[in-house]
Amino acid sequence: MEILRRPREMQAWADFQRAPGRRVGLVPTMGDLHEGHVSLVRIAREQGCDVVAATIFVNPTQFGPGEDYERYPRDEERDLLILKGAGTAAVYLPGVHDMYPEGYQTFVEVGEVSRGLCGAARPGHFRGVATVVAKLFHVGKPHVAVFGEKDYQQLAVIRRMVRDLDLDIEVVAAPTVREADGLAMSSRNKYLEEGDRKAARCLSRGLFLARNLFLEGERDPMRVAAAARAAIEAEGRAALEYVEARDPETLRPLAGPSNRMTILVAAHVGPARLIDNITLQGGETA
Ligand code: PAJ
Repeated sequence: MEILRRPREMQAWADFQRAPGRRVGLVPTMGDLHEGHVSLVRIAREQGCDVVAATIFVNPTQFGPGEDYERYPRDEERDLLILKGAGTAAVYLPGVHDMYPEGYQTFVEVGEVSRGLCGAARPGHFRGVATVVAKLFHVGKPHVAVFGEKDYQQLAVIRRMVRDLDLDIEVVAAPTVREADGLAMSSRNKYLEEGDRKAARCLSRGLFLARNLFLEGERDPMRVAAAARAAIEAEGRAALEYVEARDPETLRPLAGPSNRMTILVAAHVGPARLIDNITLQGGETA
């Protein structure tokens, strides 16, 4: 497995892979890897990639003041072992000054889909994400890039950016990998002490209750979202930030009953801000 730390090194690797016609996959991460990240590498390969590169970079421009940039878990050695085990061909690990050298002043701003939901509570977050992902695309030169549905709005922002900027990259969505009790895997779950860890289940529990209601035939987005809201509000340790039912593609609010909706939630549990979502799709109601 090749370890590359400079943009030029990563570009040379990508050019070398692409020249003989190999299909290159890219999996951007911030490290502290878990099974969710590993699944993205596997999915890249299943998408027909001959070689898969991962990137590890805790991107300062996507963290707001007072967020967890400084204490975000970092363990390079462990991450590299995990990526090697997953069959990753190369890992790009730039330093902050490689990504944002002195005088840096260029950003990618995706419009409407970046606003609302997490964009409301984290101003500038998706600008940082879009910028760093655009930069990672330009050095990794992938044919395919895999992102998790766990960060649903992020996925929608990246898809929009790829379309709007005519990037020749196929964006693949990977299903959310969950712990046995339903909690979506996340590096931020580490921040939870035992009681908070149990309480954190309320997000997925709420989403599964919403799904049950939908499966029973409820198609009113407000009512489906209300089922998730009730479960999270019933958990004393959780402070709900939002529960929303949105159009799965545009993330716009739904005007009325719909056979397709994504329920998105964010809540604070102890020191962690947790997000989760579920996409519901069904035929006509009975
Ligand atoms: P990070 O949180 O490390 O996540 C990296 C990728 O793993 C993202 O595509 C994310 O959606 C996916 N992922 C995380 N948890 C997952 C889970 N439980 N199941 C499936 N996929 C999961 O997201 C970021 O980093 C950054 O914003 C990044 C895109 C790298 C830009 O800095």
